Amino acid sequence: MIKFEEKTKQILQELDADIKSDNIYNIENLRIKYLGRKSELSKLLKDIKNAPKEKRKNIGLLLNRTKNAIQTKLEKIKEEIEKEELDKSIKKDKIDITEPGIRPTKGNLHPITKLLYKSIDIFTNMGFEVYEPYQIDDDYNNFESINIPKEHPARDAWDTFWTEDGQILITHTSSMQNRILSSKTPPIRAVVPGRCFRNEATDARHEHTFHQIEGVYVDKQITFTDMLGTLQTYFEAFFEKEIKVKFMPDYFPFVEPGGQIALSCVLCNGKGCKVCKNSGWLEILGCGMIHPNVLKEAGIDPNIYTGFAWGFGLERLIMLKNGIDDIRLFHSGDIRFIKQFK
Ligand code: DAH
Repeated sequence: MIKFEEKTKQILQELDADIKSDNIYNIENLRIKYLGRKSELSKLLKDIKNAPKEKRKNIGLLLNRTKNAIQTKLEKIKEEIEKEELDKSIKKDKIDITEPGIRPTKGNLHPITKLLYKSIDIFTNMGFEVYEPYQIDDDYNNFESINIPKEHPARDAWDTFWTEDGQILITHTSSMQNRILSSKTPPIRAVVPGRCFRNEATDARHEHTFHQIEGVYVDKQITFTDMLGTLQTYFEAFFEKEIKVKFMPDYFPFVEPGGQIALSCVLCNGKGCKVCKNSGWLEILGCGMIHPNVLKEAGIDPNIYTGFAWGFGLERLIMLKNGIDDIRLFHSGDIRFIKQFK
């Protein structure tokens, strides 16, 4: 019995020493060492049978107490280690609520949207109101009301998408001219930025879907030079440089006289380059003095009032401003393209 008492005491002392040492982190090793099949305690348990019969019960109790003591110590140390690890991880993962947040990466406006906004700003600063066109409209507004009657050969100039019930995906923002002119009394100053559609094959310079900015200005004594001045002001603000404008006669049914305005080339400043085909000029827009028939149709007396109108494609301007050589990039959905316009 004395031998057993001493041995168990020794076992517990050894365990305490082990626990004090740094080497306690593998509790499973300690469990095997002190409670496993080859442990001192197991040997003592096997030894019971050699002890005198009357002492066996007490030895059994002693060894059981020792086993429980070892288990309790191991449990305790296990809890301590777990708590220590939890504390450590809490410290490590601590959230500093005073730290500034991480900003999510933001997208940016599409170049068309951006320069559409810029254009609207320029025109509203000059006193123009802004109208959005209907994207699907009728024959009357897209053609007839602006002096393009049915069967008029000029209709061929606009490759048109028709809906099954005879509506039109607007071919130009001129589709708003009659609505604006007939709903207001002069002075009328309005711009119509919007999407237009043409049923034509696409290439680097043509898209089936594109944007135009239409403008109308009607009042007493409005002249051709007002038109040139207004458009020159817009283009200089848009390209942020001095620009010359030149008028060349052309035919549009809704204006008389009608024509094209060319800008001094914004890339070579009129010296001649690849983009302006060495001419020094870029043909940019259609414009003219509003045809008396268009004014009459809108209920405006052409003997009292005159006005001018214009329409141009926005993509072409953005391409010139940013050195983009393919119009199809605008609708490509390629995020790398859009990201260049932050
Ligand atoms: N609507 C014409 C087009 O899409 C552009 C245009 C030309 C508009 C002359 C006008 C204008 O208002 O006066 O080709």
